[in-house]
Amino acid sequence: MALERTLILIKPDAVQRRLIGRVITRIEDKGLSIIGLKLLQVTPEISRLHYAEHVSKPFYPELESFITSGPLVALAIEGPEAITVMRTLMGKTNAREAAPGTIRGDLGASRQMNLIHGSDSPESAQRELAIYFRADELVSAPTLLTSVLWAKEEQ
Ligand code: RTP
Ligand code: MG
Repeated sequence: MALERTLILIKPDAVQRRLIGRVITRIEDKGLSIIGLKLLQVTPEISRLHYAEHVSKPFYPELESFITSGPLVALAIEGPEAITVMRTLMGKTNAREAAPGTIRGDLGASRQMNLIHGSDSPESAQRELAIYFRADELVSAPTLLTSVLWAKEEQ
């Protein structure tokens, strides 16, 4: 089982709605580790880097205006299969279709204002983490609870 890192963004809609704490609680409750955390304002330049795959799509101008509309929280998250675990915890992109129990399914009802971003592959995670964090801004995951969270072969 792969120990993975993923980039999570608590998007400006969630920050405006004072949901930072509730979203972070969901991630901590799952047992994943926060190894990097910062509050920042995304610029159009960062948005174009982050959403490179979407820049030429018709919805990009709206997406850029949304993601730069206010501060967001960037998190580097680590854990066994953290990329898939986070995508499952987030729910489908369109929050109206996201299952109850997921972050988007419980807290939102919009395709654009969908509260949270999570990297969708190991390659995306590596690329996106480098946009938001320098190597020296990431810490080692705390280990005290590891043995009660996962079996040895899962860690
Ligand atoms: P994210 O990248 O933010 O984690 O979301 P995702 O993988 O679930 O969805 P993705 O397809 O990568 O889309 C990125 C973000 O763009 C907005 N979006 N708008 N109007 C539209 O058709 C449309 N499609 C996507 C959403 O904010 C989505 O999270
Ligand atoms: Mg995406």
